[in-house]
Amino acid sequence: MSNEPKSVAEAAALLRAGKLCAFPTETVYGLGADATNVDAVLSIYETKGRPRFNPLIIHCADLAMAETLVEFSPLARRVAALWPGSLSLVLPANAGNGLADVATAGLDTVAIRIPDHSMALELIAAVGRPLAAPSANPSGKLSPTTAEQVRRGFGGAVPVLDGGPCHAGVESTIVRVDGDRLVQLRAGAVAREEIERAIGVTVESVEEGAAISAPGMLLSHYAPNASMRLNAEPRDGEAYLGFGAGPEFTGPLRNLSATGDLREAARNLFSMLHELDGLGVGAIAVAPIPETGLGEAINDRLQRAAAPRG
Ligand code: TXA
Ligand code: MG
Repeated sequence: MSNEPKSVAEAAALLRAGKLCAFPTETVYGLGADATNVDAVLSIYETKGRPRFNPLIIHCADLAMAETLVEFSPLARRVAALWPGSLSLVLPANAGNGLADVATAGLDTVAIRIPDHSMALELIAAVGRPLAAPSANPSGKLSPTTAEQVRRGFGGAVPVLDGGPCHAGVESTIVRVDGDRLVQLRAGAVAREEIERAIGVTVESVEEGAAISAPGMLLSHYAPNASMRLNAEPRDGEAYLGFGAGPEFTGPLRNLSATGDLREAARNLFSMLHELDGLGVGAIAVAPIPETGLGEAINDRLQRAAAPRG
């Protein structure tokens, strides 16, 4: 394609301009976006055809960048000594860290890693901002380990910084640091035993850790305190999250998009949900959202927020 980046500097310029650019890491190619740019991150979901807003892994150039985003406990610091590497750590988010909340799916934790790949590190440093990057494949397809696979996967629609084949070929291991415990959320390129040997702490399976029922979406939904009623009209005493031209309502109200624009709605989703929930209402009624384009991901997130909790 014509705008194929020929250098790290060209790829960095695309990313700084809010465009997507795929880049190599030691695990798989990532579909990168400036993690502080809401619209850039939304383009990741659109381009991958991801039916849901999964929280994304945020890639940092160095520990200093990571420290601006999340809080490191002493244990987290010991595990982070394994960086750069194929290990993503889920840590508490720093308030006002600048990350787009669509990148973290509105959670108060962030999955972070420093990739062990010189070109990736140069790229992130050149952008000067953390990069959100899921594997650079359309949703449901295999993760790419060469630039050519990325090009084929997206039919040439995504610029790719070519760094040759990836070494590991599987995604990073995801570990949540939970007080003095380490919980593996996703098995990946770094073996659990390797982490245990390196730092002398047992890495628990997610099954052993806490009450987590649905694998795949463990610990990763934002559940409001208020109960949620979807596809609903608001009642007295509730808050209302509207979409498009809604019913008259005099209670607490936010509109995801008065004009019915799904991208605008996605941009507002997490912050408005947090705002309404912060009012301390018992229930939030949510207007119907069309199940097209980003609407599918919005509805998935709303359904998970509305799901009964144990
Ligand atoms: O190897 C990799 O990790 C690749 C390369 C490109 O670096 N990236 C990757 O990213 O696999 P991604 O965004 O597809 O991984 C997202 C997964 C989510 O599905 C979720 O399981 C987990 O990371 N995750 C992200 N944030 C989380 C959080 N705050 N709490 C729990 N899990 C989280
Ligand atoms: Mg993937």
